[in-house]
Amino acid sequence: MAPLLITGGAGFIGSHTVLVLLEAGHELVVLDNFANSSPLALDRVLELAPAGADQRLHVIDGDVRCAEDLDRAFAAAAAPITGVVHFAGRKAVRESVEQPLLYWDVNLGGTRSLADAMARHGCELVVFSSTATVYGEPEVFPLVETMPTPPVHPYAQTKLAAEQLLAAMVRSRGWRVAALRYFNPVGAHPSGRIGEDPDGIPNNLFPYITQVAAGRLERLRVFGDDYPTADGTGERDYLHVMDLAEAHAVALDYLLQRAEATQITLNLGTGRARSVLEVVQAFERATGIPIPYDVLPRRAGDVPKLEASVQAAAQLLGWQASRSLEQMCSDGWAWQRANPNGYR
Ligand code: UFG
Repeated sequence: MAPLLITGGAGFIGSHTVLVLLEAGHELVVLDNFANSSPLALDRVLELAPAGADQRLHVIDGDVRCAEDLDRAFAAAAAPITGVVHFAGRKAVRESVEQPLLYWDVNLGGTRSLADAMARHGCELVVFSSTATVYGEPEVFPLVETMPTPPVHPYAQTKLAAEQLLAAMVRSRGWRVAALRYFNPVGAHPSGRIGEDPDGIPNNLFPYITQVAAGRLERLRVFGDDYPTADGTGERDYLHVMDLAEAHAVALDYLLQRAEATQITLNLGTGRARSVLEVVQAFERATGIPIPYDVLPRRAGDVPKLEASVQAAAQLLGWQASRSLEQMCSDGWAWQRANPNGYR
């Protein structure tokens, strides 16, 4: 099989996807600058991967904005690279509001320099990490990919701009591109060896809950119980990171099998939104550990609800999420319990 380039392959979603792609037999070059990830994640991936997979994994410590680093990555495998999965980027909404230039630089500038390098190296196929926040503050559910996308913060704006940059390469150069709009990926590989490793106090609900369960944090703060949702707390479409990783493998196969210019934009979620309190209850059921919480005012910038239409991914890729919320909780907890300090 022809080698693939995985930018940001040591991160949370990247590391799980690298494992799935090694299991499928691919040869991979991972380009990561380890700004928000650890090389240990890739060592752990190799422990879980089939024997001899280390011969098919090349790791380049480099930045996706740097042409020389990209050239090194494209030259790292014996055969020419035929496809890219582009995870590398920054992903915190609040940070993006405080440091917009950083987001335009890394997320859009990184995609632009990657596209340049792809053109230099004759590679015309890319699976891109996009996000459900491109839908802005939607009011109609489930969210369909053709709905308007008025993104409201630099994180979503830069992801949407990168989608548009890649769409322009489809039109002008006949590239094959899949933009995957992730809803809320959580959980971990069931081995507990790889998982999410947030820096400092977690922003996101799921790692916050697992750290309360571990005793690292005292009580969960539930941001708002006065939303127009069933129980008043925010609703999101959480999906298991292994389902998400498998979707990348399927999207790659779909693009690799096509000869003509292709552009697909797909939501990746379960199609079912869950409230903050539903997640807390599922976690308690799955692990037997009580999660004490306080209700606080709404968090600035949060929308009441996100819920994916998952029809397009099912129709085009034959993919649908299969793991339950309880599995997301028990696998996420297995990772947290075995690695109280993440990879540190
Ligand atoms: N929440 C709490 N307490 C917390 C953290 C979150 O009540 O400590 C609530 C939020 O208010 C929201 C829900 O839990 O209702 C989910 O919040 P997360 O921070 O886990 O996830 P978001 O939906 O805000 O954002 C995540 C990623 C973004 C991504 C977005 C949509 O952080 O990068 O999903 O794809 F863009």
